[in-house]
Amino acid sequence: LASIEVDVSSLQPGMSLTAKWRGKPVFIRNRTDKEVEEAKAVALDELKDPAARNANLPSEAQATDIDRSAGEGKENWIVMIGSCTHLGCVPLGQAGDFGGWFCPCHGSHYDTAGRIRKGPAPENLPVPTFTFVSDTVIKIG
Ligand code: FES
Repeated sequence: LASIEVDVSSLQPGMSLTAKWRGKPVFIRNRTDKEVEEAKAVALDELKDPAARNANLPSEAQATDIDRSAGEGKENWIVMIGSCTHLGCVPLGQAGDFGGWFCPCHGSHYDTAGRIRKGPAPENLPVPTFTFVSDTVIKIG
C-alpha cells in the first residue's frame, strides 16, 4: 500500500499539520513541552483505553506518553489518524477539556497524547506506521 512522505520542517513547537493518507487525515503535531508534561503526568489507570494503539509497537504496548509518541528523543512528535474512534468524525485540535483534540459530533475529548478521556469514543486515536526518514521528513505507511 502507498506510503507518503511529509516535510515537517516548518512545524515549530505548538504547530500541527494534517496530511492525507489512504483517504484519511493524519494529524502531525510538534507538541510543546507543556503538552508532553501534561500527558506524562496522567496515570495509566485514569485512562479509558490503556492500550497504546500504536502500529509501530506490539499490540500489548500501553498508552504511556512515550509509546503514543514518536519515541525516545522525539517524544514531542505525535502522529495519529484523525478519525474519531466513535463514528469517524474529524476531531478539532487544541480543543476539549484535556487540551488535545475534541470531536464535536458527539463530544469526545482526547488529551495531548490523543488518548480518549471523556465522551463516547471507545479508543485512543490510532497511531499509523511511520518513521522519520530524516530530521524533518516523516514517512507514513
Ligand atoms: Fe466523534 Fe461521535 S464521531 S464523538
